[in-house]
Amino acid sequence: MKYPLIFKDHPHIMHGGDYNPDQWRDTKDIWLEDMRLAKLAGINTLSVGIFSWVSLEPEEGRFDFSWLDEILDLMAGNGIAAVLATPSGARPAWMSQKYPEVLRVGADRRRNLHGGRHNHCFTSPVYRAKVKQINTLLAERYKGHPALAIWHLSNEYGGECHCELCQEAFREWLKARYAYSLDRLNHAWWTAFWSHTYTDWSQLESPSPIGERSVHALILDWKRFVTEQTIDFMKAEMAPLRRITPDVPCTTNMMGFYDGLNYFRLSEEIDIASWDNYPTWRADAGGAGDAGHAARIALTHDLNRGLKDGRPFMLMESSPSATNWQPVGKLKRPGVQTLESLQAVAHGSDTVQYFQFRKSRGSFEKFHGAVVDHEGTENTRVFGEVARTGAALAKLDAVAGTAKPSDVALVYDVENRWAIDTFTGFTRDKKYVETLTEHYKPFWKAGVSVDIIDSTKDLDKYKLVIAPMLYMLRPGMAEKIERFVGGGGTLVTTYMTGYVDEHDLCFLGGFPGPLKGVLGVWCEEIDGLYEGEERKIRWGGKEYAARELCEIVHIAADSGAIAAGEYLDDFYAGSPAVTVNRYGEGEAYFIAARMDECFNADFFGALVKKLGIRNATGGNLPEGCTAQTRTDGERNYVFLMNFTSESKTIDVGSGDGNAAGRASAGNDDAASVASTSGAATSLLTGNAIKKTVELPPWGAEIYVEDRN
Ligand code: GLA
Ligand code: ZN
Repeated sequence: MKYPLIFKDHPHIMHGGDYNPDQWRDTKDIWLEDMRLAKLAGINTLSVGIFSWVSLEPEEGRFDFSWLDEILDLMAGNGIAAVLATPSGARPAWMSQKYPEVLRVGADRRRNLHGGRHNHCFTSPVYRAKVKQINTLLAERYKGHPALAIWHLSNEYGGECHCELCQEAFREWLKARYAYSLDRLNHAWWTAFWSHTYTDWSQLESPSPIGERSVHALILDWKRFVTEQTIDFMKAEMAPLRRITPDVPCTTNMMGFYDGLNYFRLSEEIDIASWDNYPTWRADAGGAGDAGHAARIALTHDLNRGLKDGRPFMLMESSPSATNWQPVGKLKRPGVQTLESLQAVAHGSDTVQYFQFRKSRGSFEKFHGAVVDHEGTENTRVFGEVARTGAALAKLDAVAGTAKPSDVALVYDVENRWAIDTFTGFTRDKKYVETLTEHYKPFWKAGVSVDIIDSTKDLDKYKLVIAPMLYMLRPGMAEKIERFVGGGGTLVTTYMTGYVDEHDLCFLGGFPGPLKGVLGVWCEEIDGLYEGEERKIRWGGKEYAARELCEIVHIAADSGAIAAGEYLDDFYAGSPAVTVNRYGEGEAYFIAARMDECFNADFFGALVKKLGIRNATGGNLPEGCTAQTRTDGERNYVFLMNFTSESKTIDVGSGDGNAAGRASAGNDDAASVASTSGAATSLLTGNAIKKTVELPPWGAEIYVEDRN
């Protein structure tokens, strides 16, 4: 099965980037040159208007769309689709001057001056009215324009405003949440602690470094409110677009694991997820190269696929070369730009887009990587790399709209993250996202596809659900887990799970709270270790190291759980370090400590085998390489990628009954896989795929095979 195309009428993997023609209005020959260069680089989409408010409305109420008319016509004439932005990410100085309420107020209660971008109040009625007006004009004017493909809402929504308008909105939001009962709020927030009980709604204030920082449930509710208020703003700015151009999908560019917003919640309101990817490749680190970083980026792509339940997403921004705001502006080594782009597609992106098409001449981003440099021609190394990427993407039309199904889900819950990062105890740096990455890596290394989901998603379609550090059990999650395991699923969870409810109130009667039944354990204490300290554990006849957090657990009295591994050190030697409980038709595993990489590799490797989980090439991939599969249900599109500075050989002949595996049985290395199945062919070269594939440093291969 295929998902609908993101850009209807464009059955391609789209290639393009942020384009700021408004910076070049006085030199229109550059616009024409841009069209020529874009086509030369295989670019078929450009994102325009993102920071154009002052060019569209130079004075209050005086609008000038003439330049945008011209650009969109030029793009349409050249077969380039437009990602058209609403300009709310930055506003003209005249507006800040005349209406100071549009300026954001910090947690320290100081109002910003005009400047920068992304610094507006999400509540301000004036700002909302201004945004609505300009968005209405944009939608009316470009409705039906042949270039208009998708709306790009604002830019990287983020941050928070603590002005009086926002405080009042927060209070109203709290009233609705607690059914107008301060008693309920006081109980949920446990306000008798430190004499925090509120006696009037007007006493409630957002968290502040000069005020409230200790009521955890308040902090959590504030974060929820910030997400909801941002969504409310976004919906207000989307309303005219939805009404006037109902067929044009809406997206907004997100920032990966940015923690200021709950992207799962926000994504419910948009049509397509998109994100801005700025990796920091080292590109010379030897054999394993950037494997760890590549896995982290892969995880973030998978997160974006998960935000819309598997629908292909957009790589909205990436740098064609160096990224100027990073501490070191390392150039992308030859091949890295193409590999990074194909990696996004491998994980479910249907676009590869850059920031920026043409380097701006002045101001903050003049040294940020771009397709076209200040030099201005196609005769640069970076342009060549981008053009090579364009040529590769042009061969992947069949991949557009394909799915990336997974047997495995990893739970990343943003509210859980907020709660973990807010509470004080056990250890200073809790490393939730790092821990997720550590649980993701073994799958990435074995070419096993993983979906990233939060507590609101369905578990039942997976064979294996991994929920590390699920400290907060949001309403319904425990029941969902019981149903999943009871119905035959396999769950793996860890220390620091099942401690609190959605208000950050600890479960009484022992952790993991409502998961005690399914896991069959009681977690009595948790030991924080200093850096460099280790506790040995034994599992499966081997010894491993546990670090940082070791939970001391018991098999629950009335359960049939068994200890599959144990601590070997300290006063908790002999107590369970890994447990497994048969529950209904399924099994629930519990890992009591933060284990080393070897443990994760062995433990999850064994589970993948036991559960017969699909992988791309049979799983035996060299260090620093991965394989990821997209599929339309009939054909698999297998992406092989090498994230090291050395050549690597991948054996694709031992897959789990895939075309390559079938065909290679009994064949020698040089034999063509396609010779018997007729199905494994490189999309990049058109050649038959052999039993082994050579990948150059930072190289990739993509082949198609029949799915069975
Ligand atoms: C962000 C923004 C872009 C640009 C890039 C530079 O992702 O959305 O406008 O500033 O950073 O890396
Ligand atoms: Zn505000």
